[in-house]
Amino acid sequence: MGITRGDRNDGFPKDFLWGCSTASYQIEGSSSADGRGPSIWDSFCHVPGAVYGGMNGDFACDSYRRWKDDIELLKELGVDSYRYSVAWPRVQPRGSGAPLQAGLDHYKRFADALGEAGIESAVTLYHWDLPQSLQDSGGWPCRDTAYRFAEYADIVFRALGDRVGRWFTLNEPWCAAFLGYELGVHAPGHKDRAEAYNAAHHLLLGHGLAVQVYRKTGLEAPIGIVLNPSTPRPATRRAEDIAAADRAADHGTAFWLDPLYGRGYTARHLAAMGVSMPVKDGDFDIIAAPTEFIAINYYAENAVEADSSAPEGFRQAPSWRDKSAMNWDIVPDGLYRMLAAIAKRWPVKEILVTENGAAFEDRIDGDGRIKDSQRIDYLRSHLCACRKAIADGIPLKAYYFWSLLDNFEWAYGYSKRFGLVYVDPVNGERRIKDSFYYFRDSIAGFEN
Ligand code: FCB
Repeated sequence: MGITRGDRNDGFPKDFLWGCSTASYQIEGSSSADGRGPSIWDSFCHVPGAVYGGMNGDFACDSYRRWKDDIELLKELGVDSYRYSVAWPRVQPRGSGAPLQAGLDHYKRFADALGEAGIESAVTLYHWDLPQSLQDSGGWPCRDTAYRFAEYADIVFRALGDRVGRWFTLNEPWCAAFLGYELGVHAPGHKDRAEAYNAAHHLLLGHGLAVQVYRKTGLEAPIGIVLNPSTPRPATRRAEDIAAADRAADHGTAFWLDPLYGRGYTARHLAAMGVSMPVKDGDFDIIAAPTEFIAINYYAENAVEADSSAPEGFRQAPSWRDKSAMNWDIVPDGLYRMLAAIAKRWPVKEILVTENGAAFEDRIDGDGRIKDSQRIDYLRSHLCACRKAIADGIPLKAYYFWSLLDNFEWAYGYSKRFGLVYVDPVNGERRIKDSFYYFRDSIAGFEN
């Protein structure tokens, strides 16, 4: 018997799932290959001033063509699972009707090759690339889009079902609804609060309908939704700041988890925002269709304080924390606090962290290495928070790093690098960063 083998002793259970995440529009490129239709992100990128430097995802990481390279990297990293998304416009170029075989074949080949490499396919059905035709007929604010989504989901379940080990219906519906339809910084770039709340409801409805359709397929892999909850901390222990933090958490957290767990919409939040939701009879039963897990993406935690002059009664408090290149606070304990808060308030069976990571100003040194020690510190401290959660009995079952590759970071274009692997956006060349090897050691159980 070797002396370094045996059970891992780093606080992670043996069956803990290790992975990393990407999304179709952010990595694939080949935006019109094999009949792919345009998505709202293709259109948004061509709106002057919408995306940094006028960049777009036409080339991205060229992963639609270089998928074999990506699988080699994943093998080298040693992950159990790879979370990637299927591009709806590759499956249904106009968002409805007969599927495009070439698009499905691409994902079949990809999932097969991952399977041969012993890596689970963890598939997100919707990571924001809505077919443009569906936006033309109203997009997510329109109820019909939820039904179209369930039809598309059914196609993908049936085509890839025997190859996929885990399903995610939607990625971060908060971003799709509010960044896309209220704040206008994501596609389709609208600025209308009522539209955003309608979109939120139809995203949730689409999720529930897709889960219902999934149960009819007889497939047994676990399925759930990915949220980006926010659970800000109060700036002080004063009662009004604690109440402000609680109200702030309504928008990003309770508003989503309450209906998903059969509690309907958080009345306090709707009253505070002065909005009503387009709920029809039976919608809440659909939205609360049981799932196997809840998945969360975590990047940062903010502090909030009461402010009677602010429209919502609170504001973000100043912070002393180090920041990433996104100007997001680095708060590892915030991940622990978020997991604990969710596990306490909702009856979650399993929680998965499906994204966590940070952008930094990486550079290639003279010796060819990318010594991204800040990303390593980020990773180490957030894994520590996960370990603490597990030790406290929180049912945390997986950790996926965002991201495998530097990629198209939405409105920031290629100016923000989140990868374990450096990617040259001009020619798609990949170069492994030090953090890749750090994560590899963590996965292998040799980093405490
Ligand atoms: C999340 C998105 C993901 C990526 C990271 C940095 O909100 O899900 O696509 O852009 O942020």
